[in-house]
Amino acid sequence: MKTTFRFILAAIGSLLMSAVVSAGQINNTKHDLSGTNSNDGGNVCIYCHVPHNANHVKVPPWNRAMPTGPFTMYTSPTIDMATANSPQGSTLACLSCHDGTIAVDQLYGDPWGSDGTNTVGGSMLIGTDLSDDHPVSIRYDATADGDFVAASGSPATVGGLPLSANNNVECSSCHSVHDDSISPFLRKSNADNSLCLSCHIK
Ligand code: HEC
Ligand code: HEC
Ligand code: HEC
Ligand code: HEC
Repeated sequence: MKTTFRFILAAIGSLLMSAVVSAGQINNTKHDLSGTNSNDGGNVCIYCHVPHNANHVKVPPWNRAMPTGPFTMYTSPTIDMATANSPQGSTLACLSCHDGTIAVDQLYGDPWGSDGTNTVGGSMLIGTDLSDDHPVSIRYDATADGDFVAASGSPATVGGLPLSANNNVECSSCHSVHDDSISPFLRKSNADNSLCLSCHIK
């Protein structure tokens, strides 16, 4: 039992360590938040992940509380696909900083003994009103609207962009949180609207 537990911890640890190589680009990007709190010991990952005693949510060992809203979701008379009542999965993870309700240096379980107070501001603040942002936590369904490219594969992608496990468009469909080689953390350049045209036919 104890061995199994140790094995799992080691596996999580090596998962995080091996990812340093592929997620290495996060250093010196805007998501390198080290130094935000003087207690962080220069650790970059800590603002989002922790190998032990993580928040049990569907994001790799997550070191933050998830925001509780209430959120206003996107809606419009011409929307054809189903939007969740509140943000899901990785979108909620992004909003744990970008909705401005939880400080960047306020970590799960308060390891520093006093929560930080540094919240995002300016254009980084998406807020809890998502009605003025591109729809997220919306079920991608090209059969509901002929102006969309069909998704394929499992887990599904559209034009190379990932949908969530339940086929939703989330923040992570357009953004790669660790990789800023195409600023701002985009999965694909939006030159000539190519990002938009991955999903939209017009
Ligand atoms: C600003 C927040 C943030 C920071 C900092 C961060 N991550 Fe992540 N990480 C995420 C999110 C969110 C996900 C969930 C997947 C997604 O949405 O792209 C994730 C997913 C992962 C995964 C799962 C595989 C994947 O890419 O989906 C690994 C492994 C990982 N992170 C490792 C790291 C390591 C190692 C560091 C430090 C060098 C780090 N992360 C720093 C937010 C962050
Ligand atoms: C731990 C808090 C935290 C989390 C979680 C987080 N971010 Fe950020 N993000 C920030 C901060 C702080 C900045 C601005 C830093 C600065 O201005 O130096 C930022 C900046 C950005 C930028 C702008 C980059 C630029 O060059 O202008 C994008 C895009 C972004 N984040 C997307 C995301 C997405 C998508 C997710 C979820 C997958 C996410 N963030 C999760 C804290 C976070
Ligand atoms: C449909 C694609 C798409 C989705 C979904 C999406 N974004 Fe973005 N986001 C973009 C693009 C493209 C830009 C760059 C816009 C520009 O430069 O004018 C951007 C810019 C940003 C910025 C920088 C704003 C600035 O003024 O510098 C932040 C922060 C951000 N996104 C966070 C998020 C978060 C958090 C989510 C989920 C709630 C999200 N995005 C969902 C495509 C998307
Ligand atoms: C990952 C796929 C994806 C990408 C990339 C994407 N969209 Fe969308 N977009 C959607 C989906 C799904 C909807 C909801 C469509 C519906 O229900 O009719 C939508 C809806 C919209 C709407 C609202 C339409 C309405 O009827 O209210 C606008 C405007 C829009 N997108 C613009 C953009 C722009 C601009 C870009 C590029 C920055 C972009 N989208 C990139 C999937 C995407």
